[in-house]
Amino acid sequence: MSATMTVTMPIARPLQPPVGSDIDFGAQIDNIDLETLTDEQFAAIRKTLYEKHVVVFKNQHKLTPKAQYELTKRFDPVSENYGHGKTIDAKRSILHPDLKTVPHQPQVQIIGNGFVPSYEGLKNVQLRHPHHRTFHKDHIPDEQDYDFTRFYRWHIDAALYDLYPPQVTTLLAVNVPKGRRQTLLYDDGSNETMDVPLGTTAFVSGQRMYELLSPEDQEFVRTSKIEYAPHPYIWMSPARSRSTGLGMHSEGLELPDSELPEIDQKKIMVFPMCWKNPESGKLALQIHPSAVRKIHCADGTVIDDLERVRDIVYKLQRPAISPQYVYPHDWEDGDLVLFNNRGVLHSVVGAFKPDEVRLFRQCNLAASEPPVGP
Ligand SMILES: [Fe+2]
Repeated sequence: MSATMTVTMPIARPLQPPVGSDIDFGAQIDNIDLETLTDEQFAAIRKTLYEKHVVVFKNQHKLTPKAQYELTKRFDPVSENYGHGKTIDAKRSILHPDLKTVPHQPQVQIIGNGFVPSYEGLKNVQLRHPHHRTFHKDHIPDEQDYDFTRFYRWHIDAALYDLYPPQVTTLLAVNVPKGRRQTLLYDDGSNETMDVPLGTTAFVSGQRMYELLSPEDQEFVRTSKIEYAPHPYIWMSPARSRSTGLGMHSEGLELPDSELPEIDQKKIMVFPMCWKNPESGKLALQIHPSAVRKIHCADGTVIDDLERVRDIVYKLQRPAISPQYVYPHDWEDGDLVLFNNRGVLHSVVGAFKPDEVRLFRQCNLAASEPPVGP
């Protein structure tokens, strides 16, 4: 580069968390055009991401699907395919109704709510925001659905079978319905509630989740591993979620192996409970609660009683989804949120009316390497 050219370096500032919040993650960058990113700018963004885990870029209205894919890929240049791979058995998978693929950039998915006549080569798209009524065991009554909502499903973006969890996810808000807020109910006997913007995406820090544990529990999660169910999104499809969206009730409803697509034992994923930050080395408790199947303990024993596995995981994770630890992003058109998929859990929130049109683009890539444990 010649001496006369200067590169605008990203300026990161803290997010504006809600009153009473105790979050210790998140940054906002206002001065970068992600369509034309230099290596120097990317290095600064990467550093911010692994310190702050959730980075909000404002004013990215013009970002092309290709540039969104390229930004996502820069975090893992060898990765190429969408994080969930090809959808198999789409009729039964609980992920199926939520995604449409951009034809000219198949790693980028369209999600949202309402009818979109035309977008990026797609015509007459009917989008449906996930509603907790299709996933939770007990529902908020229909007459209260406008004012009250739930966390839909806390998760890591990951296939959890055959493919490794993506390093990062990018989410671009193309069109955001504005103007109202909802009260999020935990409905778990805690009386906890949160005031949230309509259709927020909620984030919690896996690092905080780890730090909130007792020394004994920290030792347990540092030395234990989680085994995920094969074809987890089909396996769990008849089961019902807890009201907090943090894992499932255990009623014996999961599909038996004989009713799943073919299972290759080598493709079953067993990951450490804690994943190490590639920059700081700090540990994040990263467990996808609704897909857990077994716990492999340090002494070689395996806990395979599903109800017990889920109860153990729930007790480890629940403290960190209390309101003071949750960042509910208040989406505006043109926001691109980049998050460390190996350092946060996130959840869809909210219930839209059919005429509230919301259009988002999501991209993540199955990683080239598994997460690194302690
Ligand atoms: Fe997600």
